[in-house]
Amino acid sequence: MSNATSANIVPQKTDIGKKERSIVKKHKPCVVWFTGLNCSGKSTIANALEIKLNKLGYHTYLLDGDNIRHGLNKDLGFSPEDRMENMRRVGEVAKLFVDAGVITLCAFISPFKDTRKKIRGLFEEEEFIEVYVDTPLEVCKQRDVKGHYRKALMGEIKGFTGIDSPYEPPENAEIIIKTAECNIDDACEKILTYLKEKEII
Ligand code: ADX
Repeated sequence: MSNATSANIVPQKTDIGKKERSIVKKHKPCVVWFTGLNCSGKSTIANALEIKLNKLGYHTYLLDGDNIRHGLNKDLGFSPEDRMENMRRVGEVAKLFVDAGVITLCAFISPFKDTRKKIRGLFEEEEFIEVYVDTPLEVCKQRDVKGHYRKALMGEIKGFTGIDSPYEPPENAEIIIKTAECNIDDACEKILTYLKEKEII
């Protein structure tokens, strides 16, 4: 494969940019990045939040790990390198959505602190909102919606986050949701309040 950062590729300037695109919306574009263990509740909260934002008339899109891994990233597994590449691509896709003026919800385990930091670096300061879905491993294991924890504990899935692959919790997430202590509506309200305070919506 040739090197994509070839000196012969010069960025093409477009006259309509993020600012012009977001003027036609009733909101500012941003990324709401959900990180947390399997079964922590990332996808459930992101989905419920998208319903609420959609009802309020905002333009959203939800990028979800399990779905993206069936399409764009179906060639990737769960080694640290593949997880980093998964994040790199999703970060770039989220950047395009933000450039298009969309409120972009991302639900990925995204277990590595450094990788999340790199993704944050793709955006302007107020555009990237990290939501740590902080659910204790024991609670996630009990939920085990898809039976992955059971399989991982029996050694049938290798490199499973929280079992034999690490999860590095965020230290400075904009929002922390403790799902063992609040319901989905409370979680959405917390995020909506934040978006209003920051004048995103
Ligand atoms: S990430 O670590 O690269 O951010 P991502 O969010 O895209 O992960 O995908 C996680 C989903 O893949 C989980 O919801 C689970 O259904 C599935 N999965 C399959 N194998 C693993 C594994 N080894 N570790 C974690 N999740 C896995």
